Amino acid sequence: MSKTKPRTYTLTEDSTGKSWKLPVTSGTLGPDVIDVRKLYADTGCFTYDPGFTSTGSCESKITYIDGDEGVLLYRGYPIEQLAEKSDFMEVCYLLLRGELPTAEQKTRFEMDITYHTMVQEQMQMFLRGFRRDAHPMAVMCGMVGALSAFYHDSTDINNPRHRMVSSYRMIAKMPTIAALAYKYTIGQPYVYPKNTLNYAENFLHMLFSTPCEEYKIDPVLAKAMDIILILHADHEQNASTSTVRLAGSSGANPFACISAGIASLWGPAHGGANEAVLNMLAEIGDPKNTKKFVNKAKDKNDSFRLMGFGHRVYKNFDPRSRVMQKACHSVLKKLGGKNEPLLDIALELEQIALKDDYFISKKLYPNVDFYSGIIFKAMGIPTSMFTVLFAVARTVGWVSQWNEMIEDPSQKIGRPRQIYTGEAQRDYVAVGKRVSTPVKAKSKAKK
Ligand code: SDX
Repeated sequence: MSKTKPRTYTLTEDSTGKSWKLPVTSGTLGPDVIDVRKLYADTGCFTYDPGFTSTGSCESKITYIDGDEGVLLYRGYPIEQLAEKSDFMEVCYLLLRGELPTAEQKTRFEMDITYHTMVQEQMQMFLRGFRRDAHPMAVMCGMVGALSAFYHDSTDINNPRHRMVSSYRMIAKMPTIAALAYKYTIGQPYVYPKNTLNYAENFLHMLFSTPCEEYKIDPVLAKAMDIILILHADHEQNASTSTVRLAGSSGANPFACISAGIASLWGPAHGGANEAVLNMLAEIGDPKNTKKFVNKAKDKNDSFRLMGFGHRVYKNFDPRSRVMQKACHSVLKKLGGKNEPLLDIALELEQIALKDDYFISKKLYPNVDFYSGIIFKAMGIPTSMFTVLFAVARTVGWVSQWNEMIEDPSQKIGRPRQIYTGEAQRDYVAVGKRVSTPVKAKSKAKK
């Protein structure tokens, strides 16, 4: 745990004048934290922070975000430098192990991952239980959870070697499972991984090759895929990573924890936003309609939001969206130079929103999901697979954070409390003595 500064906060109960000292702890970068672990024991009160907007859930050394400055560091390295100079396998090693690998370590790591990309043949049996039109994210939840039924050789989560074996298997097999899910939904035969291809190339190969014709790997598209994987690899304590940590805190099977993370990522407010952006751009239909939709997004009585805009942490540009916009242009240029109409709408939308007082005052900027869908579409990836690609990339972040949580000596099972506003205790009433009570109208769901 980082050193506790002598600095403290004093909490005083006004009615009694009683006060308590709360220690403050500083990290390497970012806001200090007020340690409230003893608050309930001392005061009999819980803290209350729905959505955890002001709550640090753990100490971590993996990723740092400065939302005001638009900074994202993986183990201290800026995302822009990693996207430009590194590759996804090297970033996986960095996130997992904490340092950039030497040439020898990188070769060994790539080989370890490459030689674990196959899944057990029985996994295909699970697929057959799904309807062909199942959403690929539903298939991913089921298939990754099903991995818990295998690999009993490495389920002791307190054994560091077992944890690393499970982590490598997860990183290696996610593209294979994602491609299996995709092929199943389009009725095509599965394509096995090829050990001669790198991670991004192999993923494209498994998605687009068929037994009749080998997919020709375009280096520009493979590089764009590699960059997209880097950009989505980890992001501090986001909803899906927090889900993996909470599931893992009970000692659950690692594959089951990742399956829980996939389920959380699926939501349109989180990883499902890239799919929602494409659907929104298609609904807008023409750059001249953007103003109308921007006004809809500003209307308090309209649940419509600009998907791909806004972020809990970034109150400036999401640094990933800038890298993604560049990658978008290079992919579209490579694929024939014609501007994807949806990109024209996205660029117009960005221009209008960034000049609009509503978005400026609420510090709403394009996030990682705003451009990724346009690249995926240009690469021939169907909209329903966008969040699956996000899950493939985020797997290394989930397993890195899961390992860190288990290795943390202060770690214990996550068990938040609540403020109870229900009925006070009351006695049972026999059915003959009950009177029907009007159902209370629920308040409107937050948009
Ligand atoms: C990801 O956590 C992570 O790091 C996630 C992620 C990762 O890598 O793991 O970065 C990936 O999930 C990116 C976010 C993708 N989601 C979207 O693009 C969906 C659209 N955006 C939102 O729904 C929203 O911005 C969130 C969910 C991303 C953030 O929501 P918050 O922090 O809870 O903010 P909020 O909902 O309280 O909004 C603050 C205000 C509100 O207005 P008021 O109630 O204060 O008047 O801003 C408004 C919101 O109505 N607002 C929007 C908006 N996003 C927020 N208004 C219009 N359009 C939007 N997109």
